[in-house]
Amino acid sequence: MATAAMATSLDGKQREPLLHFPTPAAANGAGAAGRRRFLAFLAVMAALIASYHLLEPANSSRYHALFLTLGSNATAAAHLRALTLRPHVAGTEANAAAARYVLHAFSSLSFPAHITPYSVLLSYPVHRSLTLAAARGLAAMPFSLVQETYKGDPYAEAAAEVIPTYFAYSASGSVVAEVVYANYGHSEDYAYLASRGVDVAGKVALVRYGDIHCEDMVRNARAAGAAAAIVYTDAKDFGGSAPKGGKRKWFPEARWLPPTGVQVGTLYYGNGDPTTPLWPSCAAGDDCERLSAEDLSASEAMPGIPALPVSARDGETILKAMGGDVAPPKWQGGEGAPLYRLGPGPAVLNLTYIGNDTLATIENVYAVIQGKEEPDRYVIIGNHRDAWTFGAIDPNSGTAAMLEIAERLSKLQAKGWRPRRTIILCSWDAEEFALIGSTEWVEENMDTLASRAIAYLNVDISVFGPGGLRPRATPQLDELIKEASKMVPDPDEPSQTLYDTMMRYHPPITRVAGAGTDFAAFLQHIGVPSLDMSYGLFNEYPVYHSLYDDYVWVERFGDPLFQRHVAVASVWGLIALKLADDEIIPFNYISYASELEECTKDIADKCKGFPVSLSPLQKSIKQLESAATKIHEEKKCRTGGVYTMSAAWGLREYVQKFC
Ligand SMILES: *[C@@H]1O[C@H](CO)[C@@H](O)[C@H](O)[C@H]1NC(C)=O
Ligand SMILES: *[C@@H]1O[C@H](CO)[C@@H](O)[C@H](O)[C@H]1NC(C)=O
Ligand SMILES: *[C@@H]1O[C@H](CO)[C@@H](O)[C@H](O)[C@H]1NC(C)=O
Repeated sequence: MATAAMATSLDGKQREPLLHFPTPAAANGAGAAGRRRFLAFLAVMAALIASYHLLEPANSSRYHALFLTLGSNATAAAHLRALTLRPHVAGTEANAAAARYVLHAFSSLSFPAHITPYSVLLSYPVHRSLTLAAARGLAAMPFSLVQETYKGDPYAEAAAEVIPTYFAYSASGSVVAEVVYANYGHSEDYAYLASRGVDVAGKVALVRYGDIHCEDMVRNARAAGAAAAIVYTDAKDFGGSAPKGGKRKWFPEARWLPPTGVQVGTLYYGNGDPTTPLWPSCAAGDDCERLSAEDLSASEAMPGIPALPVSARDGETILKAMGGDVAPPKWQGGEGAPLYRLGPGPAVLNLTYIGNDTLATIENVYAVIQGKEEPDRYVIIGNHRDAWTFGAIDPNSGTAAMLEIAERLSKLQAKGWRPRRTIILCSWDAEEFALIGSTEWVEENMDTLASRAIAYLNVDISVFGPGGLRPRATPQLDELIKEASKMVPDPDEPSQTLYDTMMRYHPPITRVAGAGTDFAAFLQHIGVPSLDMSYGLFNEYPVYHSLYDDYVWVERFGDPLFQRHVAVASVWGLIALKLADDEIIPFNYISYASELEECTKDIADKCKGFPVSLSPLQKSIKQLESAATKIHEEKKCRTGGVYTMSAAWGLREYVQKFC
């Protein structure tokens, strides 16, 4: 454990605040004499007039400005390289080594740091085989199911440690059946197949990655009656296009996914350790209640059928062997692809998958920078560390940015800065499997975090490639994101700020809906204001969850100068600093009220024709709006320092008028 503060406050026990902020009244005795009061009044007035805007906040904003000058792309690059030398799936020795690396990085900056282990259900492949026969009874051709390295690949040796391509928590089993092509695997795609008389029941559904998650693809396949699912990456979506008269290029020549590239993933349909849904897991050897293997296999959250991700090349081979009606134009592949048919068959696939769903140890790593005035208020920064392969973009571009922030904070500390509130930096484990590390921690510390966490600031992938800052957040953080992004130049367009380029996208700030990354437990279980952000666009990153998500890809395509990493670290760190240091927490609930108004319009549309009155809802949103506006106005004229002092000295009314 780290400091006494964390040891005692994060175990969920009720305790006194760690430090009381001494009010001037208490410090001086309540019955101060009138003369003393008058002299003090003069002193305070002098101070007010001389430094109205230059008290505490001005002091911390000096540190914040300094923070922005301390960015180092070399630091981010060095951390990224060190973190991605080996593939590091959760529960493996390599990921324990990555945890020690992060722990050491924090401790060497003199931040108290510690690791919290949990024993949770992870899922690994034991045996996979896939063969294709042109029809029932004919000889079957096996697929190698190997992602190929290229000549001169500096990571070729480490690639041998990459986990075989699979889907975590896939059911084990063997299915031999005809193939049906189901496009992107939406439920509408299955409805279309049914309308064309194609029966999916008992078949193998061949689905391509597109705009829904693999857990949804496999669920939809199962709902349609499929006995197994094969998910492939179509070259049309991830392989790039050929230049005019030229040939298609892929990594390492271009950013695109090579033909043997496979995107792995998880099929668990929930958050946290599957054996401890909604309650905390414990470390190995400790006792905690868990669901049994029988409970789990009956659980709706498990995929229930065997499934396997395969490459573009293997997908195409299967499609070439299929018959049946021609698939509609929207279901077809890109240039040079064979004609896609719906099936069923005559191609027959034999999929055998044996997985091992087993308890394994995961490790969250934390660094704590204890607050000076409000140590029991937490500003939490988080990023996951575990990766399906090397994790150079997903997620260690975020880890590199977080460690770069830590280095800057340590330099601020050396210059005398101490945050007003406590900052906690978190390196989560097993996010890829089911957001497990962050969810277990929130479940374990639910009451403490619900009452003391001010905000959770997540960055999973910090950089996809070009495309500007892409934040999403709960609405009370909108203004803060805008303000902070105005302070940071856009590395791709240095004459513009991140805010300028962000405003070209509409809408500039989206909402943290759904799950998909580690803010989920903070936001959805305990209602902590949250944000998540990255630089660039997902479709610039076709090597997602594949062997090729390595340092070379980042250096060549993702962020050649590592300046995008630094820009994300700047805006991420600045938001954290303002939340930690500003005397009045920089939330703005005016945008929350307008967001609620927008949502109410949606509800009103949906309620048309029903005897439902939304006016009580609208009225309370108006009340929120006017309260938010009032606070906003008051805040504009009162720095926190003035407020605290004046209130204590009986000057509150005066200062209010003064404003
Ligand atoms: C399917 O593959 C498995 C594993 O390779 C093999 O044992 C089985 O005999 C195959 N089934 C058929 C019908 O070919
Ligand atoms: C599953 O994993 C456990 C724990 O690592 C191991 O003891 C066991 O042998 C594995 N089972 C199989 C079938 O690989
Ligand atoms: C850092 O940025 C500078 C200036 O843009 C550049 O010359 C240098 O190569 C970058 N360092 C790394 C590690 O990318």
